[in-house]
Amino acid sequence: MSEPMRPKASARGATPAPACTLVIFGVTGDLTSRLLMPALYNLSRWGLLSDGFSILGIGRSGIGAEGLRKELDSAIRSFVAESGRDFDEAAWSRVVACLDYLRGDVTDPSLYREIGARLAGRPALFYLAVASTLFGPIVQKLGEAGLAREEGDAWRRVVIEKPFGHDLASAQALNREVLAVLREDQVFRMDHFLGKETVQNILAFRFGNGIFEPLWNRDRIDHVQISVAEAVGVERRGIFYDATGALRDMVPNHLFQLFTLIAMEPPISFAADDVRDRKEDVLAAIRPLDREAAVANAVRAQYGPGEVLGRPVVDYRQEPDVSPASTTETYAAMRLDIDNWRWAGVPFYLRTGKSMTRRTTEIAIAFREAPLALFRDTAVEAPAANWLVLQIQPDEGISLEFGAKVPGPQVKLGRVQMGFKYRDHFRVDPSTGYETLIYDAMTGDATLYQRADNIEAGWRVVQPILEAWSEVAAPMARYAAGSEGPAEADRLLARDGRAWRRLS
Ligand code: BG6
Repeated sequence: MSEPMRPKASARGATPAPACTLVIFGVTGDLTSRLLMPALYNLSRWGLLSDGFSILGIGRSGIGAEGLRKELDSAIRSFVAESGRDFDEAAWSRVVACLDYLRGDVTDPSLYREIGARLAGRPALFYLAVASTLFGPIVQKLGEAGLAREEGDAWRRVVIEKPFGHDLASAQALNREVLAVLREDQVFRMDHFLGKETVQNILAFRFGNGIFEPLWNRDRIDHVQISVAEAVGVERRGIFYDATGALRDMVPNHLFQLFTLIAMEPPISFAADDVRDRKEDVLAAIRPLDREAAVANAVRAQYGPGEVLGRPVVDYRQEPDVSPASTTETYAAMRLDIDNWRWAGVPFYLRTGKSMTRRTTEIAIAFREAPLALFRDTAVEAPAANWLVLQIQPDEGISLEFGAKVPGPQVKLGRVQMGFKYRDHFRVDPSTGYETLIYDAMTGDATLYQRADNIEAGWRVVQPILEAWSEVAAPMARYAAGSEGPAEADRLLARDGRAWRRLS
């Protein structure tokens, strides 16, 4: 049997992360119980938390350390139960044993004095699992309390969750606020897509194999489609989502991670800045959209009533905490062009939406068609494109579609697929994707985190679209919940003589 696949952290050296205190702001929130704690449980199982590791949770409630442990205990047990694996009591008790709670208001300076006293000069990773309006104020207070200052081995780092800003100006302002207190190498801007094994595998696939890179350019590739379709709607996040929309929620962050990893030049090493420099080059080379181009090359849509996976779904405007007159998009699609030597003339089509037919994230690369000449006198009409599909989730894998001769006296081509599925080759432990990211932040490796300029470059690309869509008269397409998206998005590709792949 193949070796179990572990996060790149353990593959890199399997040494426990250096001793430190993980200070979680917002420890009683959903993110902590759903993602951070399961990740810490896994790190504990894999032996990647050191003996000197501890957690200090900060929250406003009077839950107390014991109450918090109990609450997290039931959350972690259901996470493990869902995966069908045995619960590792020893691994979890190591996490629980080092977990403490501090009640306080993040705007109150006395909280930071208390945190300082608890840290007593130890290295610390501050994790901001709070509303985005608190990112700036918390960093500022950390600075005022002297908690951002590093002395000797006592490093200080801050993980900032998304959303990092809601447009270019607010992202720039937040970067200024953060960098007034911290050095860039102390800041870890989170994009959880980078924690996904299959996303990291894009680099391994492209640069760890000799056969693909020579094909990876305008000579061989016709266009690229990046789809992040979700079956879920807004769930209980109506307030956040209605103020945010599909574009802000998904595109400058998650979709652009996939986009830049596919389009970037080979980095000279996998050191954080080498990788992030190459990503920056791609974002900087995206052809800027003016207002007219933004309207012509981007489609927004909102879902109406329908059925998703057999479950009835109401109109978006009737979802809880959503305005009945909402003009927020739940779907966004666009065509982007990269003006550089590798990609000139190769459009990248991106789409993402909620309440779609099914959950699937894939990157599909369409290769140029073969010349027709050889099949001129046969039953073959026009050879279809070869597709290379990187399935990011679910059912992770990679497949190559090509034409093969249908057996029989006639020369006829049928479409066939050559596929690799992760689950057939590796025993993948159920994980949240946060394992690698937390481990990396503790070891100081920012490769899988976003630099200030990367974040701003992403916002810069979508800013004209945000502005065009903020106009009242901007068109808003509709699609039925459970469908593949609006007809307007189909027309975006049809106009170029292309079509979206089915969301399979
Ligand atoms: C989050 C968005 O960042 O990513 C959500 O806010 C979205 O709206 C989620 O559902 C998708 O992440 P994943 O890992 O479930 O594909």
